[in-house]
Amino acid sequence: MSLDKIFSDFMRASCIFKNRDVLSISFTPDTIPHREKQINELARIVAPALLGSKPSNVFIYGRCGTGKTLVSLYVTRELVKRSNGNVKTVYINCKLKGSDTKYRLFATITKELGKEVPFTGLPTDMVYNLFIETIEGEGKVIILILDEIDVLTDKTDGDILYTLTRVNQELKNSKLSIIGITNKLGFIESLDPRVRSSLSEEELIFPPYNALQLKDILIQRARLAFSEGVLEEGVIEKCAALAAQEHGDARRALDLLRVAGEIAERSGSPKVKIEHVDMAEEKIDTDKFLEIIKTQPKQSQLVLYTILRLLENRKEVQTGDVFNEYSKLCREYGMKILTQRRVSDLIAELDLFDIISTKIISLGRYGRTRIITLNLADSTLEKIKNYLSEVFT
Ligand SMILES: Nc1ncnc2c1ncn2[C@@H]1O[C@H](COP(=O)(O)OP(=O)(O)OP(=O)(O)O)[C@@H](O)[C@H]1O
Ligand SMILES: [Mg+2]
Repeated sequence: MSLDKIFSDFMRASCIFKNRDVLSISFTPDTIPHREKQINELARIVAPALLGSKPSNVFIYGRCGTGKTLVSLYVTRELVKRSNGNVKTVYINCKLKGSDTKYRLFATITKELGKEVPFTGLPTDMVYNLFIETIEGEGKVIILILDEIDVLTDKTDGDILYTLTRVNQELKNSKLSIIGITNKLGFIESLDPRVRSSLSEEELIFPPYNALQLKDILIQRARLAFSEGVLEEGVIEKCAALAAQEHGDARRALDLLRVAGEIAERSGSPKVKIEHVDMAEEKIDTDKFLEIIKTQPKQSQLVLYTILRLLENRKEVQTGDVFNEYSKLCREYGMKILTQRRVSDLIAELDLFDIISTKIISLGRYGRTRIITLNLADSTLEKIKNYLSEVFT
């Protein structure tokens, strides 16, 4: 291809986006269709803060990409706007740094309220006292949004949520309410009953979006993001349908649209076509799976590598065969051979990640076995294989 053609194609295609940031994760839309019910309910729950009362704690649950973070931030922002400075919100994403121990979480909240705290060095009690003092000093209703709250029990000293739900007993001037958000269904059941009842004084559920709802969300975003007329008919519907099939994830729908636009742009196409959406789907999956596989321990990678090799010339394979082949490869690469039981666990884990599918079948009087199949697109499979063959050469 001549340079003239490359550059002129680029110039033609670079008109695809009017404002691509609108499709990025950091963009906050002005309106939030199909969440009226959740917005109104949450608003009713936090409204008492306007009178200086402590709103009930709320527990928000829903699958990923169902608008939980967006709605919580929107409603609390609107509340603060109308509170004459008497309400403050602190938003913490517990998955990010600064909340992995009790010490750090209290320090982070205190910092968010504008008081400097060293991130290490003080006794935890002292940080806690500083935290209480800072909240008291505000003389306000404070709404603490703990996003991805399920992480807290995994990593932190177990009673952190208990402590947080009892903070009000130590406060006179201020009040603290908690909005806890998670996409882990089992989380609330796993809690100590005292913490559970306190955290979920109110509960809000965010159902998945269906294809029509996703379409509305995409249309609104596409209007801001793309130049007029560059989306071929059916592109938005396709993104919506694919994301609805998955589990009604608006983030996935938006990602599909963005990546499809980028692929069209890079290939010099003046329009975003349905085939670009298909390519976007494969790219997003490949990136996601590769990311997971790269972070797996070597043993798990070897189990997957074994499965992929065995499945090169058949459609399904049994755990027993995987184990035999895996043991052979272990000897070849000088790796420790794990027990069959451990290997089964690793296989189950790969299933959880959706990299493979497994199904238990009965062999009559020979007991039961697990049958493994693949459900990855060819191009994704190719890239995973390439990666693993590099690891195991
Ligand atoms: N009703 C909606 N209207 C417009 N955009 C939406 C809507 N719902 C979600 N989004 C967008 O979809 C993306 C995902 O939403 P959000 O981050 O709120 O999901 P979530 O439920 O918090 O997911 P997770 O559990 O993964 O954190 C964001 O970019 C958000 O702006
Ligand atoms: Mg979220």
